[in-house]
Formats: sequence, structure tokens, C-alpha cells
Amino acid sequence: MMVQHNISAKKEGIETQTIVLEIKDLYKSFGDNHVLNGFNMKLHQGENLVIMGKSGSGKSVMIKCLVGLMEADRGSISVMQNDITTLNQEALDILRADIGFLFQGSALYDSMTVRENLEFPLRRHTKKFDGAIDTETLIVEALENVGLVDAIDLMPSELSGGMKRRIALARTLILRPKIILYDEPTSGLDPITAKEIIILMQDIQKKYNTSSLIITHDVDCARVISDRMILLIDGVDYAVGTFKELSALKDPKVRAFFKQ
Ligand SMILES: Nc1ncnc2c1ncn2[C@@H]1O[C@H](COP(=O)(O)OP(=O)(O)O)[C@@H](O)[C@H]1O
Ligand SMILES: [Mg+2]
Repeated sequence: MMVQHNISAKKEGIETQTIVLEIKDLYKSFGDNHVLNGFNMKLHQGENLVIMGKSGSGKSVMIKCLVGLMEADRGSISVMQNDITTLNQEALDILRADIGFLFQGSALYDSMTVRENLEFPLRRHTKKFDGAIDTETLIVEALENVGLVDAIDLMPSELSGGMKRRIALARTLILRPKIILYDEPTSGLDPITAKEIIILMQDIQKKYNTSSLIITHDVDCARVISDRMILLIDGVDYAVGTFKELSALKDPKVRAFFKQ
């Protein structure tokens, strides 16, 4: 029997904010591996929503369904109040340009310089900028946001892990997304570098008033950055609430996340 804790959603106020992303009753299986079994989530305008789940619990699968890299078996996904299953390709592309996705790892193109890595998404989404884009200005501005203008001509192999993550973030930011999806933004980084990335994410959120969905199993990251959290357990949104609320729950499956 599944226990569903839903605390903050009942709190006054949050229900009235604009919902920018919504997943209802999402199912995804790979053969006998039932990964998502009716997962739900809502992301509100300006919110930092953290999704925590054990390794292999389906966090990346969920985010891939969300951005259309994977097809769900069942369920609905809406972006800015548009059900994505009903949209044609052109409408989807326009919506997608508003969503930035920071992949797990950094996923930079190893054979391209930093400048070329940043140019790449611009070329794919020229429509968003009406064709009238000053590429170099946008690239420099994006690098300034992550404090790495000097790295513009370097190759990924010349960058540290933390720098790669920053460049990947700059590449996401260059399209001025309204929503940013972060898949394990601090994984594989040492604690100090991880903290720097978290601070950077907060700065960006303030500067551009983005709404963020942050997937992590880093408790420190969740505590610092989350307005609200969802625990993905057994393929469902098992518990929903603030960090404080969830960390106070007695449910052993929930406790397991917070004792470290
Ligand atoms: N393309 C795929 N084909 C088959 N199984 C997959 C595929 N992608 C993910 N899975 C499985 O789905 C489960 C969840 O994976 P994932 O979402 O990557 O976990 P995590 O929560 O660590 O991000 C795992 O059991 C994984 O093996
Ligand atoms: Mg993952």
C-alpha cells in the first residue's frame, strides 16, 4: 500500500500560482521493468522544485519524457498550459525553445571549442531570435553569467569538471529559457565545486526569474535550493512538500533520504 504525503500543495497560495509544467499520471515501463507507475508533478512560475529519488528510480526517464526524448506509455504532460501530445512539430519546437535542459554529466561536444558548443543551440533555434542575432554577444554574455569568458577558445578536454558543468549551464542559458531542467547538476563534483554550481543556479534563477526542475540525490543541494520537493519512490510522487516538511516525516522510505 502506497502512502501519499502531500503537504505543501494544500497550503494556501501555491495553488493559485501559474503552472508552467505539469505531469499527470505518467507511466513508463521497459518490458517487466515498471519504472513510472502514475507519477504526478506541477512546477509553478518562479519555483525551484527538487525531485529526489534513488539511483535507478526513474528520474532521468521522467525528464526525458518531459522533453520528448522518450515516449511515455501513458499520462499527460503540459508545458505552459499546452498538452504536448496535441501539438504539431512546429508548435512543439517553439515550446521547446523555452525549456533549457542541463543533461546529467555535461554532454559537451568534445571535438568543439567552448565557443562552438555555445553556438550550436543558437543555430538550432534561430527562430526564437528572429534571425537577428549577434551570436558573439550572446556567447560572451552567457559565459559572463557563469564567470568563464576566458575559456571561450578552449576545448572541453582542457576544462575541469566544474568548468565543464558551468559551460553546459551557459549553453543552456544562451537560449534564455523560461524553464530550466537540471538532471543531477552536482553529481560527480567535489563538495566545494558542487556548492559553487548551486550558488550559480540560484543567481541565474534570480537574474532571469526562471522556473526550475532540479533532479538530484544530493541532500545538501535539495536543502539549499528547493522551494518544494517531490520524492520519487516506487514510480510515484510518494511525498510532496518543503524540505523541512519532508525531512520531519517518520515514514521509513522517506527517512532513508535524509539520514546521511
Ligand atoms: N532506454 C532504456 N531502455 C531500457 N531501460 C531503461 C532505459 N532507460 C532507463 N531504463 C531503466 O529505467 C530505470 C530508471 O532509469 P533512470 O531514469 O536512468 O534512473 P535515475 O533515477 O537514476 O535517473 C532503470 O532501471 C534503467 O535501467
Ligand atoms: Mg539519472
